[in-house]
Amino acid sequence: MVDFLEHVDAVAHGKVNLHLGVGDVRPDGYHELVSVFQSLSVHDEVSVTVVDTGVGGVSSLAVRGVGGGGGVPTDNTNLAWRAVDLVVGAYRDRGHRELPVVDVGIRKGIPVAGGMAGGSADAAAALLAAEAVLAPAYGGLGAAALRELACRLGSDVPFTLVGGTMLGTGRGEQLVPVLSRGTYHWVLALNSKGLSTPVVFSKLDQMRAERELPRAGGTERILAALARGDVAEVADALVNDLQAPATSLLPALRRTLDAGKRAGALAGIVSGSGPTCAFLCADAAAAAEVADALIDDGVTSAVTTATGPAAGAYIKG
Ligand code: C5P
Repeated sequence: MVDFLEHVDAVAHGKVNLHLGVGDVRPDGYHELVSVFQSLSVHDEVSVTVVDTGVGGVSSLAVRGVGGGGGVPTDNTNLAWRAVDLVVGAYRDRGHRELPVVDVGIRKGIPVAGGMAGGSADAAAALLAAEAVLAPAYGGLGAAALRELACRLGSDVPFTLVGGTMLGTGRGEQLVPVLSRGTYHWVLALNSKGLSTPVVFSKLDQMRAERELPRAGGTERILAALARGDVAEVADALVNDLQAPATSLLPALRRTLDAGKRAGALAGIVSGSGPTCAFLCADAAAAAEVADALIDDGVTSAVTTATGPAAGAYIKG
């Protein structure tokens, strides 16, 4: 019997884009991005449990704690399932034939289909957990191989693997760390409806074909503000090219954004492709007040506070 770890829990965090500049659509269907990511304290937990050995792979996937819009798939379309299969496949490619059959469990803390990289975080955590199950028997795959698998799983998976505050280019998968001082206090207003990322990107293309839209521009202001750790300047520099298509698809988001600003947030922005709205606040007390006001206003289905930057994906000790 090969010496697998029987059970591993891993954690990965959600994110907000502080700057999201979307360029033109590429021949491969992706858009060229310039993104400043910040990971947030909201997180998912992924458990991988060995139930058998043989050819290897996932036997079942269960999801708990789902909030926000849309269901989470429990079949092999789930990114965490695909992540485990890729890790098992990587070991198979290295000549290992006795591989674990596992159950995967996901405990959601990140809004579903909310523009906060929840599915990507699950994939990142599943990559780490599956590797940790197999490493005692066959050695680790190594950081470079995991990163390559992360890129294959999705544009945001490499970032959720490393976390912190990063500048992403290409599809968003080419990352360099950004100097960021201080802790940022966020309020996240969830929406009962999810938004599909490809639909939001296509809507942007369609809107740009119809008329000139303002573009996010360079990252100089946000990077300087983060380096200084000046929350008001960071708030002033927040920008997201996907906000126009997201609010066009879900006009109610405009009310949510206005309500947060009225309640004292320094700034509000649609997170990634939405529909979660992220409000940057001066401190924890201001964030608590904004959260209360958003609930009182009835402009959000649920609200949560979070801090950033948070860590990358990690194995729970
Ligand atoms: O990479 P991922 O599978 O997460 O992307 C989901 C969808 O989002 C893509 O199929 C594409 O429609 C859109 N996308 C894009 N440009 C990017 C990232 C994502 O158009 N850089």
